Amino acid sequence: MSGTSTYVPKSAAAKWLETRLPIVGLVHSSFVAFPNPRNLNYFWTFGGILAFMLGSQILTGVILAMHYTPQASLAFASVESIMRDVNYGWLLRYVHANGASMFFFAVYVHIFRGIYYGSYKAPREVLWLLGIVIYLLMMATGFMGYVLPWGQMSYWGATVITSLFGAIPIVGDWLSHLLWGGFSVDNATLNRFFSLHYLLPFMIAGVVVLHIWALHVPGSNNPAGIEKKSAKDTLPFHPYFTVKDGFALVCFLVLYSWIVFYVPNYLNHADNYIEANPLVTPQHIVPEWYYLPFYAILRSIPDKLLGVVAMFMSIILLAFLPWLDTSRVRSANYRPMYKVAFWLFAATAVGLGYIGSQPPAGGYVLAGRILTFWYFFHLLVVLPLLGFFETPRVLPASISDAVLGPIGGSATAMAASAASSPNTKG
Ligand code: HEM
Repeated sequence: MSGTSTYVPKSAAAKWLETRLPIVGLVHSSFVAFPNPRNLNYFWTFGGILAFMLGSQILTGVILAMHYTPQASLAFASVESIMRDVNYGWLLRYVHANGASMFFFAVYVHIFRGIYYGSYKAPREVLWLLGIVIYLLMMATGFMGYVLPWGQMSYWGATVITSLFGAIPIVGDWLSHLLWGGFSVDNATLNRFFSLHYLLPFMIAGVVVLHIWALHVPGSNNPAGIEKKSAKDTLPFHPYFTVKDGFALVCFLVLYSWIVFYVPNYLNHADNYIEANPLVTPQHIVPEWYYLPFYAILRSIPDKLLGVVAMFMSIILLAFLPWLDTSRVRSANYRPMYKVAFWLFAATAVGLGYIGSQPPAGGYVLAGRILTFWYFFHLLVVLPLLGFFETPRVLPASISDAVLGPIGGSATAMAASAASSPNTKG
């Protein structure tokens, strides 16, 4: 995964294995000796946190599945029995349910880190695209998981979202019937969602392996957004980044545990503690918080089909970021105008999330439309044009210069060499 290994097996058994399956060498070159840029900040710890969360969700999910019954008349009761009768079942369920939220929180930090520091730009486009595939799979997994407790919000959320597919011309009806396994959300829907909810995390794990492979070819981007040039620019993954990632993970787990033990239902909806009832529609049908910005975009467009198209496009367009962003400078730290545009875009996403949680009436409708407009305007107009109109700041000559200052050189020398660097635009 990461070039020639410098690992030297010591024992006879290790030598025997290494000549047959050099897996220890692979791990050593990828996660021990791997040279990482020395200036990575704490935003670079979220990939590791995500890997941990994926493992934790799979582990807790597999155990939950041992006690859960994917049958419409039993699902709700089986979840209640997990909460009350299974030893530590309540803990398992709260860790898994809130784990989904923590997973999405971490992935949003990870994505916005990439957007701020231009990590999607060449030569990391494939890495970015694989990230988008992971994100789409995560969204599908989270959505299907939320249906499983078979509460009111599970049922009606599933009804609203699966009905959207019906708006697609020609194949729409066929598609929603395929998702339902019948003519409405019912037992067959619950069965297939359970099956897919169990399958998709393993597909995510497969794509994560490709994601890390694609990362290890060029290596990590960094806050300066320039490539490593010499050994001075890097530090070995272990112990420097293993310790830093470990510390960040512990802090993350403190927050996660606090939610699990003190406010385990804060992110859930009270209606989901009422068993699904196809005859009673809840007053407000709201998806999980991590889907709210997209839900707001869907509702901001008065036409159903166009709303669905806009919602899907808002995610698909992110895949095109490497080409929509025309600037040759990566990091927003050296792009004064982009920095402002980035924070506006981040605020737009948060604002859309808030609008998505509110009833679609009064001022919320107008605010939702303005924010939806800005979301697309940023991606389709601001980003492509900024690359041409913005004058970036002078980049440091190297990563070690960015951290330590130019050793043995003056600030003028640094500016002069940076101006001639291929990373500096015009
Ligand atoms: C299960 C989900 C994911 C896991 C386990 C994961 C894992 C990782 C890891 C371990 C790294 C290296 C450490 C770091 O830079 O934080 C990384 C880097 C990266 N990831 Fe992910 N990732 C996930 C999802 C995503 C998503 C959804 C995107 C974008 C849509 C994405 C885009 C990137 C990019 C661009 C980098 C390179 C960052 C840089 O070098 O500056 N990842 N990922």
